[in-house]
Amino acid sequence: MPALKLDSVDVIDPDLYVARGYPHAEWALMRREAPVYRYERPNVDPFWAVTGHAPIVEISRQPALFKSLQRLFMTINQEGAPDPNQGVLRQLLNMNPPEHGAYRGVVNRRFTPRGVQVMRQQIEAITTEALDALAGREECDFVLEVSAKLPLAVIAEMFGIPRADWDTMFRLSNMMIGPSDPEYGGDKTIKETLEQARMEFFQYFSALVEERRKNPRDDLASALANGHVNGAPLPIFELMSYFALLIIAGNETTRNATTGGLFAFIEHPDQWRRLKADPSLAPRAVDEILRWISPVIQFNREATADTELHGHKIRAGDLLTLFYPSANRDETVFDRPGEFDIGRNPNPHIAFGIGEHFCLGANLARLELQVMFRQLAQRLETIELAGPIQRMRSSFVGGIKHMPVRYRIRPRA
Ligand code: HEM
Repeated sequence: MPALKLDSVDVIDPDLYVARGYPHAEWALMRREAPVYRYERPNVDPFWAVTGHAPIVEISRQPALFKSLQRLFMTINQEGAPDPNQGVLRQLLNMNPPEHGAYRGVVNRRFTPRGVQVMRQQIEAITTEALDALAGREECDFVLEVSAKLPLAVIAEMFGIPRADWDTMFRLSNMMIGPSDPEYGGDKTIKETLEQARMEFFQYFSALVEERRKNPRDDLASALANGHVNGAPLPIFELMSYFALLIIAGNETTRNATTGGLFAFIEHPDQWRRLKADPSLAPRAVDEILRWISPVIQFNREATADTELHGHKIRAGDLLTLFYPSANRDETVFDRPGEFDIGRNPNPHIAFGIGEHFCLGANLARLELQVMFRQLAQRLETIELAGPIQRMRSSFVGGIKHMPVRYRIRPRA
């Protein structure tokens, strides 16, 4: 391969992600030569690519100077894509203080460490059921049969969405996250796929809201349907967007951490043996999986005033793109960043972001992943790839669509 050069590396073409996965060599070069780098290429709108841990933290902690915006992430200019400045939804990720905090407060308490504990038993049961279903066979698509099931079931249960509709939630969230992937978008344009998913989501949630306003229960759907922001019910577009955000965010990312985590163990059998010998390592292992896999690739911010960042003049209106997987391998923060070490401590990864928009679902995701990897470690006797993994066409979320595996699994204890 020819040597990489800063001014020609590509870190946002979604086809590269399909073909090769994350561009870690490119990010390493960028961190070394310019952790804040003016990215100008013929097929993209210019932006500052931020690949260092320190500048990402600095930006994320100043939401007034670096605001969130409708355009959530950067990608190449593509035919059939919607206007990136008109977001498909209006939700927490593109809101700013003080509005942002007021909206976050509507459901916050259900996602605190204590709030998510009420889900523990269900999480254990859903995981056990998914693994039981693997018994009696030797091969499966780990994504569809295991990774996708747990987060989908958990968020659907929290909302109180009936089982018969879970497949619809799965299909629509795939369309929203991977609209340019032919498996999810079919022959529709990106814009058509997003609009159809939004319309179907909104129709579904409107009926759910109506029902929960009449018959409130103790679930997330009722909390949102009857919630207030600054003393008034949520406006309809923001309300619908909130439902969609939680379904999508709760689904895609945890799924990819599970798949990517198991893949990391297949590639690092010594670490797998270590977890199997001592399943109490699960919490640290999960954080190492989050650092290693970093399911969310990037989020944007926009400078609200002229400022300086790591020696560069940033102008008001400039876009900055924060690459989390790169920060999580930053040599100035992590010892041996290229080593997958499930005992790593401390592990100041920022796979969940940091600051104002720190992932609302982080406690839930950690709990799901800990239960999942503990059970996998206890029950999987052997595990190996049975075919190539297939990645989603996206430079926003590092999705794995399919991962065929061959295994031997123990019956439940
Ligand atoms: C491994 C799993 C997950 C990862 C890696 C992840 C990652 C992230 C990241 C990077 C952000 C943005 C941070 C920023 O802009 O500073 C975020 C925000 C968010 N996440 Fe997650 N997430 C995960 C799971 C979940 C789950 C399970 C849910 C909900 C059920 C969820 C809901 C949200 C929401 C609502 C936001 C927006 C928060 C805000 O803007 O205030 N996430 N997540």
